[in-house]
Amino acid sequence: MEKENKKENDLMEKIISLCKRRGFVFQGSEIYGGLSGTWDYGPYGASLSHNIKELWWKHFVSEQENIFGISTPTIMPEGVWQASGHLSGFTDPMIECEKCHHRFRADHLDKKYLEQKKCPDCGGVLGEEKKFNLMFPVNIGSSSLSTAYLRGEIAPGMFVNFKNIMDTIHPKLPFGLAQIGKAYRNEIAPRDFLFRVREFDLMEFEFFLKESDWQKYFEFWREEMWKWIEKVGIDKEKVYELEVSSEDRAHYSKRTIDFEFEYPFGKKELYGLAYRGDHDLKSHSSGSGIDLSYFDEETKERFIPHVVEPSMGHGRTMLAVLVSSYKEDNMGDDTRVYLSFPPKIAPVKCAVFPLLKNKEKLIERAKEVYKIFKKEFGNVEFDDNGNIGKRYRRQDEIGTPYCVTIDFDTIEKDNSVTLRYRDSGEQERKSVDEVVEIIKSSLI
Ligand code: GAP
Repeated sequence: MEKENKKENDLMEKIISLCKRRGFVFQGSEIYGGLSGTWDYGPYGASLSHNIKELWWKHFVSEQENIFGISTPTIMPEGVWQASGHLSGFTDPMIECEKCHHRFRADHLDKKYLEQKKCPDCGGVLGEEKKFNLMFPVNIGSSSLSTAYLRGEIAPGMFVNFKNIMDTIHPKLPFGLAQIGKAYRNEIAPRDFLFRVREFDLMEFEFFLKESDWQKYFEFWREEMWKWIEKVGIDKEKVYELEVSSEDRAHYSKRTIDFEFEYPFGKKELYGLAYRGDHDLKSHSSGSGIDLSYFDEETKERFIPHVVEPSMGHGRTMLAVLVSSYKEDNMGDDTRVYLSFPPKIAPVKCAVFPLLKNKEKLIERAKEVYKIFKKEFGNVEFDDNGNIGKRYRRQDEIGTPYCVTIDFDTIEKDNSVTLRYRDSGEQERKSVDEVVEIIKSSLI
């Protein structure tokens, strides 16, 4: 058991170290000592992040007939959060040590510390459990200050725009409003790399429907979430559904399924699928005084639509993808590390190498090929540094699915290049046009 835990901690350490070493992820504001619960994405991390968001948007918005994308601010006034119930209900149970004043999530603390009321850090006495609100207040304006909040979830942006969308786009039920954007939570104890942070992107939509249809669409989106999990490169074997009990559900939810992932530090929530009933539109109708009901032209009925909400954390997607993709094997004489990202989300699609650095003709042709690929795929690298084996390893480590080498046969014989596949290490001779088609087809 201990050995098993060590292996898993090692995996987490390896992933964190690779992310830092290769410019995927850095501690937020690192040169100022770091701000806990925040992470900065370097060039490869930003590219991976962008590709995941783009793929999500394609899967859940552009390819759907009845989902509309919107984008709303991260700051919303107090009234929104009063109506939604976040000011009273968006809390976690907190316990503080009376001696060292470290704070802990009561529901995450080992039972033995709770029973003995003993601080796991200093052995001091633990105080009483309190409810800790996760919302970040902000003061708006320079003269008469008013309190607003950084959004703790992105869903209210969709609810407060329900009427705007009805009045401008006139959609019929069922339909969804989607967005990707930042959410902020003053987590008591941020931890486990990208897993529990204080600022993160959410990718989610509110699917408005008739009450009688909620089960049908709950099942429909549950299936779509499984398809997404596979598409983005999360190991399906490591994902489990959990029916969340009524005591553990969010204050707005009538039914929730969590999709849990087997992270190296344990099986924990990846995504959530919730049936929010008519809680939100009803609350915002009474909170704002604006009628947020829907008129059904066919039945001539007016009612408040109900909502099914698939919610997917972007940072947790990044982490689950990294854990699923991290591989070590033996290739040639050494052990190599590679990230087996699906080409669609890989930060770099292809790398181009001239076989030798000091042969002008090779460099010239390699630069031409690089430009062709760059125009086609954008994220392409040129590398003439060190031997070819080392260049392959560098690309493997950042998950580049294809490498192309320009050698003497390219310039003296048939213009063909060597295409090398990341996962198998296999190589074949292909024309530049053929390589373009192979890469293109893997990105559809
Ligand atoms: N609108 C629904 C909602 O916000 P949630 O379960 O509170 O539901 C949705 O959060 C998703 O956001 C989670 O399934 C998880 O992927 C992600 N998430 C929640 N808290 C997080 C945190 N502190 N750090 C990173 N991701 C988080």
